[in-house]
Amino acid sequence: MQYHRYGGPEVLGVEEAEEPHAGPGQIRIAVRATGVTPADSYLRSGMLQSITSLDFPHVPGMDAAGIVDEVGEGVTGTVVGDAVFGLVPFADLGGGAAQYAVLEAWAPKPRSWSFEEAGGAAGNIDTATRVLDALEAAEGMTFLIDGAAGGVGTIAAQLAQARGLFVIGTASERNHGFLDRLGVVPVTYGAGLADRLAPLAPHGVDVVLDAAGKGSLAELVAIAGDPHRVVTIADFDADRHGVRFSRSGAGEPTGWAGLPVAADLADRGRLTVPLHAVFPLKETATAHEVSAAGHARGKIVITVP
Ligand SMILES: NC(=O)c1ccc[n+]([C@@H]2O[C@H](COP(=O)([O-])OP(=O)(O)OC[C@H]3O[C@@H](n4cnc5c(N)ncnc54)[C@H](OP(=O)(O)O)[C@@H]3O)[C@@H](O)[C@H]2O)c1
Repeated sequence: MQYHRYGGPEVLGVEEAEEPHAGPGQIRIAVRATGVTPADSYLRSGMLQSITSLDFPHVPGMDAAGIVDEVGEGVTGTVVGDAVFGLVPFADLGGGAAQYAVLEAWAPKPRSWSFEEAGGAAGNIDTATRVLDALEAAEGMTFLIDGAAGGVGTIAAQLAQARGLFVIGTASERNHGFLDRLGVVPVTYGAGLADRLAPLAPHGVDVVLDAAGKGSLAELVAIAGDPHRVVTIADFDADRHGVRFSRSGAGEPTGWAGLPVAADLADRGRLTVPLHAVFPLKETATAHEVSAAGHARGKIVITVP
């Protein structure tokens, strides 16, 4: 699945492409599934051109799961035939939505996850781990996630719970039961959040992830009491609020160490990847449209035949 110019979902098309190969420290997989993230739509539309430009043709898909079929120089502990999930090279900004993809960070696929679940897991694990580390999230803290029902939020909530944090998450009311089943205390987002939180977090909120980017940073900083206790992954106004913006490839540590941690939690039944929808490769355009609508409950995934 690739495109040759910036544009709407209609620029996406299935075509023959050159096979990628694993470089040093990398592996190549025969892809079974790849995740769809809002950034796929931002990149495709050209909206991020001022920050990063794409080389065309571009294959979307930042994470994937499949079967290892090539092992690059220097790789140990992974062999051809292993089932894995992981991240495409960050510099490529894609590559997952294809028969073969190169990974630069990966972990064994948990037996308890389907390939669909594993295919959409790595990017959000990387992001959530990076954010929890940046917030120095520790046992006993109360953690607020603004935008908890989406791809990043659902994974961040469970990784935080595994670290011993108490998690409160915002979502629209239709998603409150869903958050409740993840062990997250739900609260409705939007103006007045601090008042609604007061009875839910009587000792206050220690750390906050803004996974929504909907202009709530001023209120989130007031809730945490210190901008240093807030990290956003989605609000480009972060600087104005003294809040850190976390993203891959920005010189901060990666969240790659979270991949084996997450795989181990999954095998112990403590980490699930809720799926909003699964689309076949040829319906990638629809998957991008659904993602861009901004109300995924969990992760959107594409399967590769
Ligand atoms: N910087 C990074 O490294 C990085 C990495 C990954 C993602 N991101 C960005 O982080 C954001 C979240 O990513 P994602 O993959 O989790 O997206 P997603 O799966 O599309 O998130 C959808 C969720 O957002 C919630 N939402 C919509 N409007 C909201 C609002 N006003 N307040 C709070 N929540 C709201 C929705 O809940 P309801 O349906 O209940 O409204 C839905 O569950 C995106 O902007 C993405 O581009 C950044």
